[in-house]
Amino acid sequence: MTKQLFEPLTLKNGITIKNRLYKGAMSEALGTKDYGPTEELIHVYRRWAHGGIGMSLTGNVMVDSRYLGEPGNVVIEDERHLEMLKKWAEAGTEDDSHIWMQINHPGKQSPKSMTKKPVAPSAVPITGPAGSGFNAPRAMTIEEIKDTVQRFVTTAEVAKKAGFTGVQIHGAHGYLVSQFLSPRDNQRTDEYGGTLENRMRFLVEVYEGMRAALGKDYPISLKINSTDFREGSFTEEESTAVIRQMAELGIDLVEISGGDYEKPKMMSDGEVYFLDYAQKISQEVDVPIAVIGGFRKKTSMVDALAQTDVAMIGIARPLVLRPDLPNRLANGTYRDIELPRLTTGIKLLDQTLGGFSGLTYYEQQISRLGRGLPPLKHTNAWSPIFHLIRTHGPAALSPRRR
Ligand SMILES: Cc1cc2nc3c(=O)[nH]c(=O)nc-3n(C[C@H](O)[C@H](O)[C@H](O)COP(=O)(O)O)c2cc1C
Repeated sequence: MTKQLFEPLTLKNGITIKNRLYKGAMSEALGTKDYGPTEELIHVYRRWAHGGIGMSLTGNVMVDSRYLGEPGNVVIEDERHLEMLKKWAEAGTEDDSHIWMQINHPGKQSPKSMTKKPVAPSAVPITGPAGSGFNAPRAMTIEEIKDTVQRFVTTAEVAKKAGFTGVQIHGAHGYLVSQFLSPRDNQRTDEYGGTLENRMRFLVEVYEGMRAALGKDYPISLKINSTDFREGSFTEEESTAVIRQMAELGIDLVEISGGDYEKPKMMSDGEVYFLDYAQKISQEVDVPIAVIGGFRKKTSMVDALAQTDVAMIGIARPLVLRPDLPNRLANGTYRDIELPRLTTGIKLLDQTLGGFSGLTYYEQQISRLGRGLPPLKHTNAWSPIFHLIRTHGPAALSPRRR
């Protein structure tokens, strides 16, 4: 179905997003010590809204301060930060833009520096090179599962009250929801493990709890992996089955990504990596599908909308370098972007720090945007590393989330 970048999208609930471009969730690491939003965090969303984006997904907001993904996370457990959250939502909705809050629990992907004993569906540790940065998890009790479902709901209720125009359940990238879905991470023998129906029970309970609390017209979306790219883990067939069921239950938008800490496919350098699967799903399931990962060239954005049934195009890293990217696309001044390749100058160190220094580079630039500064275009990895240590201390030098 032919669509254009600047054509509005109307969701089933009647809510309209002014164009087909959204900012993908990027953990900003701009929370206060007591996990509230900072002025910088608020300001950077104002810049994205003024840059012409149809909708911004926030970086993941955590539901439980005992289990964090990284330093600087925002956590919502109650209304203590409501005033600042209102300012954040106001900034993000300027110029008719949407701001949807991404809600997450890291499960076992909570680094050693953050959690001594992470929780997960089962006591299955993270393997591979990333594993050494994480303590082995213990299996959640049924009470903890129920409590965590309620926490997702509470965070979403506060988001709505603060004026966020939608929420997103982070069901991708190997975090808790994704751990429940994976037969490799989830080896439970109770009603939350085993069959796909059981493995998706946690997600369904989170969604239904949110739906009951937020009402039928409030946008709830899901970010989900096409697959985990791991032997014996979540497959495309299972992903399709989950999306189909979530569509039947009334989810408003599904965003396609893929991978986790062991197989970080979501951060590949290639062009537009999940489009084929997103197209397949769009044809099979009756829910708007959004796809993220690798959009750099104007032609690939235009073509993805014109030539497939995908409803929205997600952009993350390029929007850090060009916060006004949508306006530039609209007025013809956008030049296809190439992301900088960061190096410390020391090969071994580059390999060890890998994607970590890359993520930190973007966090550093998001922080600059929040202070009203332009992003730095350097390719030297030391500056972001020092930025990280300065803001969060050396403990922050542990494997990073995505
Ligand atoms: C600094 C940084 C932080 C990220 N944090 C999140 C996050 O909190 N939640 C999420 O779903 N994805 C997160 N991602 C992944 C992006 O949403 C996106 O899927 C990925 O960057 C691919 O899109 P891109 O090629 O346009 O950058 C993050 C990416 C970066 C660079």
